[in-house]
Amino acid sequence: MSSKGREGTMLGTAVVTGASSGIGAATARGLAAAGFEVVLGARRLDRLEAVAAELSGARALPLDVTDASSVESFCGQVPSCRVLVNNAGGALGLEPVAEADEEKWREMWESNVLGTFRMTRGLLGKLIASGNGLVVNVCSVAAFEPYPGGAGYNAAKAAERALTDVLRMELLGRPVRVTEIDPGMVRRTSPWSASGATRLVRRRSTRASSRSALRTSLTASPSSRPGRATSTSTSS
Ligand SMILES: NC(=O)c1ccc[n+]([C@@H]2O[C@H](COP(=O)([O-])OP(=O)(O)OC[C@H]3O[C@@H](n4cnc5c(N)ncnc54)[C@H](OP(=O)(O)O)[C@@H]3O)[C@@H](O)[C@H]2O)c1
Repeated sequence: MSSKGREGTMLGTAVVTGASSGIGAATARGLAAAGFEVVLGARRLDRLEAVAAELSGARALPLDVTDASSVESFCGQVPSCRVLVNNAGGALGLEPVAEADEEKWREMWESNVLGTFRMTRGLLGKLIASGNGLVVNVCSVAAFEPYPGGAGYNAAKAAERALTDVLRMELLGRPVRVTEIDPGMVRRTSPWSASGATRLVRRRSTRASSRSALRTSLTASPSSRPGRATSTSTSS
């Protein structure tokens, strides 16, 4: 297993939640290619193992971010962590508020908000101990662009965004940066492979791509970042 980056530096362990498909699988591939030892988590272990099998030294571990004991068990199997990508989650349903299903709202809150909270709390000590940690929360343009039928997802992603902002403030002066990625619509060539994903993204303040924003975050050293906290919002 290679844990060295392109410049030969040791990059450490990156955890990606929701890595069995879509953005999470693509992120795991990207981090492995960059030289991280990747630990992939999701509920569908067969898909997770298929993604991990493509990547040198990657590990697939069962994870349900809506289940506190599953999160605890997962985090206990990760000895060290430099990067945590909170990606697990998604949108459920398009019903207007008047007809919305409470169970779908609860599920979206559990995975997108509480899942991100549980994973971050579970690995924060290891991220700090790494001396150069990074939390990447995959939020959404839906966090700040509401749409009819989207209230449950809009609310959950807005809450995840608030959690991200607070975490960034709370970690000022500690060696962990907090980055938010806000994708717009993401098109995939297949539910398994996001290597052909077309990301229609634009940064709110600049035109840099989310990929280059993430790369910049990953390669920055703590000493080059006063306050050691970074906000990277990428949206379309
Ligand atoms: N696709 C878009 O257009 C878009 C746009 C903006 C933001 N996003 C965000 O991007 C993230 C990834 O979405 P995607 O489009 O790549 O969707 P996806 O292909 O459906 O992937 C979702 C991933 O999350 C995992 N997951 C769901 N619930 C989980 C749970 N309780 N515990 C652990 N893993 C869980 C799924 O794995 P298992 O089912 O195997 O557990 C899967 O790997 C989500 O947070 C989503 O809100 C997506």
